[in-house]
Amino acid sequence: RKLYIESYGCAMNFSDSEIVASIMQDMGFETTSQYKEADVIFINTCSIRDNAEQRVRNRLREFGAAKNKRPGMTIGVLGCMAERLKSKFLEEEKLVDIVIGPDSYRDLPNLIAQSDDGIRAVNVLLSREETYADISPVRLNSNGISAFVSIMRGCDNMCSFCVVPFTRGRERSRDPHSIVQEARELFENGYREVTLLGQNVDSYKWGGTASPPAPLQERGENELQDENDPNSLSFGEGRGEALNFAGLLELVAQINPLLRVRFSTSHPKDITDEVLHTMKKYENICNHIHLPVQSGNSRVLELMNRTYTREWYIERIDTIKKLIPDCAVSTDIIIGFCTETEEEHQDTLSLMDYAQFDFAYMYTYSERPGTLAAKRFEDDIPETVKTRRFNEILKKQQECSLKRLEQHIGKTHKVLIDGFSKKSDNDFSGKSEHNITVVFPVNKAYKAGDYVDVKIERCTPATLIGKIKADVEI
Ligand code: SAH
Ligand code: SF4
Ligand code: F3S
Repeated sequence: RKLYIESYGCAMNFSDSEIVASIMQDMGFETTSQYKEADVIFINTCSIRDNAEQRVRNRLREFGAAKNKRPGMTIGVLGCMAERLKSKFLEEEKLVDIVIGPDSYRDLPNLIAQSDDGIRAVNVLLSREETYADISPVRLNSNGISAFVSIMRGCDNMCSFCVVPFTRGRERSRDPHSIVQEARELFENGYREVTLLGQNVDSYKWGGTASPPAPLQERGENELQDENDPNSLSFGEGRGEALNFAGLLELVAQINPLLRVRFSTSHPKDITDEVLHTMKKYENICNHIHLPVQSGNSRVLELMNRTYTREWYIERIDTIKKLIPDCAVSTDIIIGFCTETEEEHQDTLSLMDYAQFDFAYMYTYSERPGTLAAKRFEDDIPETVKTRRFNEILKKQQECSLKRLEQHIGKTHKVLIDGFSKKSDNDFSGKSEHNITVVFPVNKAYKAGDYVDVKIERCTPATLIGKIKADVEI
């Protein structure tokens, strides 16, 4: 039978779809890219903002039309919206057969069997332990070069605007052996870049007791890792020491210097200098940090329950730039949060001036049912004001992104080729370590997965354009 799976939302959802594809493959399903010919359609959903949910509902209508033409087709709703709405989904959307939350994917064989018997099925139990550590993801829509590796699930922060703690449950870290093994297998299969994923990677923690983790460097290479045995990492259980995110990052970076390592998302309250020092120590850990600020005003940050202030954020930026001058920093900004005044909005703009973000995701505030903000504060900023403030933030970021891009002109960057450019097979496209797309003419000596030094000559609003350095010198 054939499975069609479509994902919305954050990288974690895309990564989960690869776990789901693996579980379904074990049940004999093969994936298809044509939903009209599928026996099972899964839509892995996001609840982060209202418009994310609307998109899913519109898409479900299209799937419904396909199902009417092909009775016997099963439609399943997965992920955060399934978790948020639970069995209400079956009442609201009559064509949905399965509703399954992010911690219940191991139960898919049961749910599919029930659905085959004509029973509409729901499993939205959240877990304190599930990390799917032992499941080998089936890489979907992969370029064979970059892959996501989930290192933790859930979130224990309670940012007042955010639905994730409710849809993803408690934070839990994944066994580092399985993380290192997955990354190593990816490398052996030709992948050259892994992105370690979690809602708050800096609170990754494995094993240990109450005592703070000892820096890995102090423990000696041999004790740390035996080259030939992925299971020989010695830390954690019984030793009274925990492996923290810096330690995990180091273990993954040590797999091979040709394997680039990225991570997302860092939380300003938790990112440590130890992580920055680890980034500095390993050339293959990319100099890019996604550090969502949300607001540049301390009162708003407090209402958001972000647990840091404007000054704290600025100090983190200063330290990043001091330790890693070349580091790209991107961010997320929420515009028009409850009670945000004009001056407070100006504080976000001035923080942007200070931080000089390379890139930003910007959103107007969308109230989510059940969150602390929905319970405590009124969503009182009129849409017109939100939109106007959004446009001001957007304009500032566009100017800043362009200015930051222009600073790369004349420099030479190491680029990991991920394929031909979207526009032409005469050009390669790849990423610099700052996560910027770089486009340059093909040289047949190279292929996807290779690293090349590219001399940057000019830029468009989102892309650097250059030539392979050796080609320039000839
Ligand atoms: N774990 C990450 C963020 C995950 S959600 C972190 O802590 O930074 C991704 C982004 O969506 C958030 O950073 C925030 O900017 C945005 N977001 C979350 N809830 C939102 C809401 N209710 N309205 C608008 N934007 C929201
Ligand atoms: Fe949401 Fe905050 Fe957790 Fe990020 S850290 S997922 S914004 S609750
Ligand atoms: Fe959306 Fe869930 Fe991710 S709400 S942003 S898919 S954790």
